[in-house]
Amino acid sequence: MRKSSIVLISAALAALLASPFIVSLLSPPSPPPRPELPRDVKECVRPAAQMRAEHMVLLHQWRDDVVRRGDRREVMIGGVSYAKSLTGSCMKCHRHKEKFCDRCHGALSSAPKCWDCHVYRKEVRP
Ligand code: HEC
Ligand code: HEC
Ligand code: HEC
Repeated sequence: MRKSSIVLISAALAALLASPFIVSLLSPPSPPPRPELPRDVKECVRPAAQMRAEHMVLLHQWRDDVVRRGDRREVMIGGVSYAKSLTGSCMKCHRHKEKFCDRCHGALSSAPKCWDCHVYRKEVRP
């Protein structure tokens, strides 16, 4: 094989291998998810920034309190008492799973398995 054709083939191969990176550099970044916040209440269990980063930790803490420690003491949010419950509290304020939880998780291709057992509003009242 001639030297020039080796150079040509290598260049073509390099361009082919680099093409996914070039395409992703040229395409615009996807917009951040916009979960719909409740309008009738102002406060969450914790400040919003903390909830955004650590809601999964809090959920597991509530689950461990209730299921493992038998501690069902309620929590106060904005002067109202709420049970440590996924369906009974989180989903009482964040009524639409699709417009809240799913908007973020969908953008991340994350699908928590909680709903295999726990129900949400659409399942409670169609
Ligand atoms: C009393 C009503 C109420 C309850 C109960 C509640 N939330 Fe919230 N949540 C809110 C409100 C209101 C906001 C927006 C707060 C703000 O903007 O400061 C919020 C914010 C959030 C955010 C941040 C959203 C964003 O756009 O960054 C997450 C995540 C969240 N909640 C998850 C949960 C989970 C999980 C539970 C149950 C453990 C829960 N919430 C329970 C009312 C509630
Ligand atoms: C502001 C965006 C946002 C909102 C709103 C949101 N989440 Fe998440 N959630 C995340 C991110 C980011 C992760 C981490 C992704 C991962 O680990 O797969 C996560 C992870 C989780 C996890 C841990 C993952 C697992 O498989 O165990 C649970 C549980 C969870 N979210 C529950 C909820 C529930 C319930 C709601 C609605 C009440 C909710 N989230 C709303 C962004 C959000
Ligand atoms: C295999 C079924 C199953 C799965 C999957 C599951 N749970 Fe549960 N969970 C239960 C049962 C059963 C209880 C006990 C209910 C009670 O005693 O009130 C419970 C209780 C809880 C509680 C406290 C009580 C309440 O009403 O919410 C929380 C919080 C909770 N789970 C969060 C989660 C989260 C978050 C996930 C997903 C990461 C999850 N669970 C996945 C079965 C499940």
